[in-house]
Amino acid sequence: MFANLPVPPEDKILGLMRQFREDPREHKIDLCVGVYANEKGETIILDTVKEAEQRLYDTQKTKTYVGIAGDPAFNQAMQQIVFGEDYPTERIRAVQAPGGSGALRLISELIGRHKPDSRIWLSTPTWPNHAALLNVAGMPIGYYPYFDYDTKTVDFEAMKAALKTMGPQDVVVLHGCCHNPTGANLSNEQWDEVAQIAVDTSFFPFFDVAYQGFGDDLVTDAYSVRKFADTVEEMAVATSCSKNFGIYRDRVGCAFVMAKNAAEADVAFKQLQTVARSIYSMPPDHGAAVVSIIWNDPELRQKWYDELEAITARMLGLRKMLAEKLHVATGSDRFDFIADHRGMFSMLGITTEQVVALREKHAIYIVGDSRMNIAGLRIDLMDTLVNALVDVTGKE
Ligand code: LMR
Repeated sequence: MFANLPVPPEDKILGLMRQFREDPREHKIDLCVGVYANEKGETIILDTVKEAEQRLYDTQKTKTYVGIAGDPAFNQAMQQIVFGEDYPTERIRAVQAPGGSGALRLISELIGRHKPDSRIWLSTPTWPNHAALLNVAGMPIGYYPYFDYDTKTVDFEAMKAALKTMGPQDVVVLHGCCHNPTGANLSNEQWDEVAQIAVDTSFFPFFDVAYQGFGDDLVTDAYSVRKFADTVEEMAVATSCSKNFGIYRDRVGCAFVMAKNAAEADVAFKQLQTVARSIYSMPPDHGAAVVSIIWNDPELRQKWYDELEAITARMLGLRKMLAEKLHVATGSDRFDFIADHRGMFSMLGITTEQVVALREKHAIYIVGDSRMNIAGLRIDLMDTLVNALVDVTGKE
């Protein structure tokens, strides 16, 4: 069975995590994997999560199965977080999933099993694991233009031109906010235009929303999904609580389908559960129960808003500080875009050789395509990073 198994290539991001762990240099800096760290470099558990876990511990009476679709209270909480509290529920169905990745897989399995002639479209660039997760039933994967490496903004004209050529068999994966890996995002007006293109061409919108609340705030970051929900007949959304609740390892996500009407939504819901049953049976409970406790207790919910707001404000401050320091140190505006990007990441647009030099010479780890995890920055390390960046990229 295992004698002739080929060794698979290592995942780009996880491979760097391993390299970082094995690097003996004490001054090493990890700006790779998308995990938020506080000013001491620690990824701590949110107070609200701790409190909800305590309540769960005190009150949970059983560990029996939760059911294929997960906990209805969690699914309802997620629907309110993503679509808004008063959004009508008739056409939307939710299935709790093992992380945002699990939600992506559930939806693509559903598409692959029932419409295998679909084509999946990803942005250029995108999260490196997207293609592997969405590669179901031999559906071809294509790429639409997204990032302009010169301006470090979205190449919206090229993106629009590509989307206008799509048809009903095309499934377009859209990062709802906080684009991973670039940090460059569409404006609300641009989202309006893309929603109209979806209507005109009938492409199927498939949102990945892994960072809601990490850009500006929960509502601002949901503009794209909510606009589409008001505009298109059908769509899917994969969402994650890894980042905004900081419960990465608990694997908490949710898959949404929005259908033309309630009857079709019911069938899609049943089909999603059939998919779930056949690939992992039932989702884990703990993290989802925590989210549901927080969301359904007004006091805890407010505390969570406050904790999330503090995290986002800190990340925006770090962006501004890094951009300003690089402006002064390079005597140029070539890194000013860092302050305008949103979410955990910014694509610096430096060369592979410069990324390697950052790692080998300065023990600073960013992903090979030059994605930097802004959420891993620390004020006390800012000058070290700035000097290293100037060293490997040169002054203007
Ligand atoms: C990332 O992009 O760094 C995170 O989403 C973690 C992962 O699984 O790659």
